[in-house]
Amino acid sequence: MTPTVTQHPSPRFSLDQAQQSLRSIYGVDARLHPLPSERDQNFRATAADGAQYIFKIINVAESPQSIDFQTAMLRRLLESDASLPVPRLVPSLDGSDLAHVQGPEGQSHAVRLVAYIPGVPLAEAKVDAATLRDLGRVLGQVDQALMSFGHAGAFHSFDWEIRRTPQARTRLHHVSDEGRHALLSRVLDRYDRVVAPRLKQLRCGVIHNDANDWNVIVESASGGRVTGLIDFGDAAYSPLVAELAVACAYAMFDKPSAIQSAAEIVAGYHAVLPLQDIEFELLPALIASRLAISVSFSSARKEQALANPYLLISERQAWAMLEQLDRMDPFIATGILRKACGLEAWPGASAVRHWLDRHAHQLAAVLQPHPARQEKRVLPLTDALDPLCKANIEGDVGAMLASYAQAQAAHGFTLGLGPWGEQRAVYAADFFESALIAGQRRSQHLGLDLFAPAGTALHTPLGARVAGLVICPEAQGYGGVVLLEHEPEPGLRFASLWGHLSHDSVRKLSVGQSLPAGARLAQMGGVSENGGWTPHVHLQLALPPYADVTAIPGVGEPEFQAVWADLFPRPDAFAGVPAEAFASSGRSKPELLAARRALLAPNLSLSYKVPLKIVRGQDVWLIDAGGRAYLDCYNNVCHVGHCHPGVVQAIQGQVARLNTNTRYLHDNIVNYAERLARTLPPELDTFFFLNSGSEANELALRMARHHTGRQDMLVLDWAYHGNTPNLIAISPYKYKRKGGAGRPPHTHELALPESYRLPADWPQDMRAEQIGARYGAEAAARIEILAGSGHAPAAFIAETIPSVAGQVFLPPGYLRQVYAAVRQAGGLCIADEVQVGFGRVGSHWWAFEEHGVRPDMVVMGKPAGNGHPLGVLVTRREIAERFANGMEYFNTFGGNPVSCAAGLAVLDALEGQQLLANAQAQGEFLMNGLRQLMQRHAQIGDVRGRGLFLGIDMVSDRQSKAHATATAGAIANRMRELGVLAGTDGPFDNVIKLRPPMTLQREHAELLLGVMGQAMDELL
Ligand SMILES: Cc1ncc(COP(=O)(O)O)c(C=O)c1O
Repeated sequence: MTPTVTQHPSPRFSLDQAQQSLRSIYGVDARLHPLPSERDQNFRATAADGAQYIFKIINVAESPQSIDFQTAMLRRLLESDASLPVPRLVPSLDGSDLAHVQGPEGQSHAVRLVAYIPGVPLAEAKVDAATLRDLGRVLGQVDQALMSFGHAGAFHSFDWEIRRTPQARTRLHHVSDEGRHALLSRVLDRYDRVVAPRLKQLRCGVIHNDANDWNVIVESASGGRVTGLIDFGDAAYSPLVAELAVACAYAMFDKPSAIQSAAEIVAGYHAVLPLQDIEFELLPALIASRLAISVSFSSARKEQALANPYLLISERQAWAMLEQLDRMDPFIATGILRKACGLEAWPGASAVRHWLDRHAHQLAAVLQPHPARQEKRVLPLTDALDPLCKANIEGDVGAMLASYAQAQAAHGFTLGLGPWGEQRAVYAADFFESALIAGQRRSQHLGLDLFAPAGTALHTPLGARVAGLVICPEAQGYGGVVLLEHEPEPGLRFASLWGHLSHDSVRKLSVGQSLPAGARLAQMGGVSENGGWTPHVHLQLALPPYADVTAIPGVGEPEFQAVWADLFPRPDAFAGVPAEAFASSGRSKPELLAARRALLAPNLSLSYKVPLKIVRGQDVWLIDAGGRAYLDCYNNVCHVGHCHPGVVQAIQGQVARLNTNTRYLHDNIVNYAERLARTLPPELDTFFFLNSGSEANELALRMARHHTGRQDMLVLDWAYHGNTPNLIAISPYKYKRKGGAGRPPHTHELALPESYRLPADWPQDMRAEQIGARYGAEAAARIEILAGSGHAPAAFIAETIPSVAGQVFLPPGYLRQVYAAVRQAGGLCIADEVQVGFGRVGSHWWAFEEHGVRPDMVVMGKPAGNGHPLGVLVTRREIAERFANGMEYFNTFGGNPVSCAAGLAVLDALEGQQLLANAQAQGEFLMNGLRQLMQRHAQIGDVRGRGLFLGIDMVSDRQSKAHATATAGAIANRMRELGVLAGTDGPFDNVIKLRPPMTLQREHAELLLGVMGQAMDELL
């Protein structure tokens, strides 16, 4: 029992009297050994058979109610769980748990006999984490067993009950040391401020209330399991969490990490009897309260304490612990306790993290250019010998700036990064000493550093309220610092701390001020005002509601990384820095190049002079291995945006359920055919599903030849239709260029009906219709001649907007005339919409619609599956029926449920997100911008486009219209350096080609125009 001032002296039975009482009441014949006790008289009894007991003769001052309370409580504990390590009541000969005996002074004393619990008090044993957890478990079990236990004796009021903490103020005057006096006052103030108003919210029950390390028995001196919880003399009806406050207060003494020791006990308890949020929250303050009660008593009983060396030691320990708790951040303390229990260190931490991850792409840029778009490099401050780290430790400004410039020159980055979670050697100042682990320093970075020149403007990514503004002058401090509060969704609250800012810019803000997302916040400070660091911003998120900015630790102990992740989550998404910037995966670019050369076909090409290693795609962005995001304006396969969530989910869901061939009935294939049919002229009603554009064109060729019984094919000059031998044979772009075998006899080319470069002998001022009519007439004449010479075509195949030929838009009326002439000659008309289909032109689903023609077959590919290999051939029933001559058409993969699920999801996205209308609107905006560029640069010969299919024809000057191949290539390469991906095409590779995802937004279009403009301004 906790020592307290007694009015009545302890009972004074002689050994003989006690022995005799024991024998007569319990029938136990035993040797007795007196034990120390302040109030009662206790004996250890060893019976002849070796059994050991504790025989207690209770002080007459103890009220019968209180004695009965303890007895009933021990009885209840044993009845509810016989395995609980609590004293076992031994009944008297007449069967009762409590007996009475006449004392030497004639008074009647209550007596109790319990079985002795062997072992070693925790105070004298080696204590490890497992023992502490076990202690927590036992306390949890005891409190749980007593939850339904009520007794009038439990409600006695005494100063060791945690709710009587304010009574300690009456003993405060006994504390003579000024510092200690102030410390104790702070603890009591904190109780009044933080605990008292919330007492009513705490669960109460009967608790042991005194699990100090003398009342806990463990297996042996080397610790082990808890075998006994003894002395229920302070048991009371009290907040459950007080049980832990008491146990932790004592278990924390002299531990390397007091809070970690407490966390072990709490975790053991929580596993049995889960704690509530408010209990976690108040526990650190309650531990301090318990210690405050203790030291206030010992100060009041100074003389007694002086006489008892044990009391002196524990008083010293209690003061030391109070001082340690005083320095400890209560949010962190609670976080450590929670984390040890397997909970979030801050409730709702993962919700904030997930929200930020999900919304990262919508947040305003922290600085310009957007961090995601910049070339980045981690500047490790991990090695004290690294020149930059060393210069920062020493505060050597010259060396600091020189080594930064050197690193920049060597690696070509524009944004330096100091990662969250980095273990740093750089924190030398005294205030980096740990308050959580004795003798340890804080070294783990809890923010994200963005290094850029002093003066760089910073913007809030989210709407915010300015919550704090401070200038910290000390070396290695925060310098100018701002705290913003964000609540992007009701209830989703967190703060962001921005450190090392210019003082002037901090002074321009005011607390309480609201800032919209994207608003300019402040500027990065120079070395003289940022705490002496290389210019950067330390950007940190904080979930606890700190009232004082300077109390937010920017650095923590590595042991508590999991706690930091909840209290101060990684701000990478908030800052717009892709994860790849911190950890590159796979092989380096030179390694990949070497492996490609060794393993892959030599005629695979790579884009750009300096190839890219792309590791992730997201909507309009491609992200490279270093975490730099490039605006993809070239790849028309990921039509509805890279990794479109709807398409990804459709593929994942279906592939996890079933993927097989078309010889089984399945909904997807017919659903997809029905959905596609709705976008097409009604006679195009019969579908083939394949794996690529080439495969679809190959089948189209085969069917056309089968249908007409002819071999000859009519194509446009410079066309490309696929990579099989039959398709190379109808692709002048291949057979006429390097490595090509020339035009095969059965392939016939029609002139590419270019409107920009008309044949020299034509009037150069013709209107579009006239151009279409003239090309059309020449084509018709050609077809007639071919037919007359026995080369009537099986089919005419053309891209509706020839792409590899240089983004050539067919003049109006042309296709109509050609289709008529082909049909006149008994041939079929095939529209290759592999590049231009699925709404790319914005105004229509299919580019041929604009020309008022109805093809006999339409071939679809690239965008159909948004990157999943999917080709489609649609034709008229009559043609398909003739093709079905008895030979099965089997395609192992074509039309499988996964491919069709992908295809359906692409249609859903196009329709659901109204992407055709978007393509049209963004296309018009881009065309306007390109026309403006054209006014600036005479080397832009022509700009042409429909929806998001555009070409910029580069010439040496408009007069000559000569193809400017090198210029186009240089511009595309410079654009890539500036972060926008475009390509070049055309027979002379002089046409800059743009085919961005259909999800391109205005801001992306502006970026594209800005970057292209910059590249041209630099190069032209
Ligand atoms: C117009 C056209 N048709 C057909 C193909 C062949 O498609 P795939 O590469 O899917 O076989 C391409 C590919 O670039 C193409 O551009």
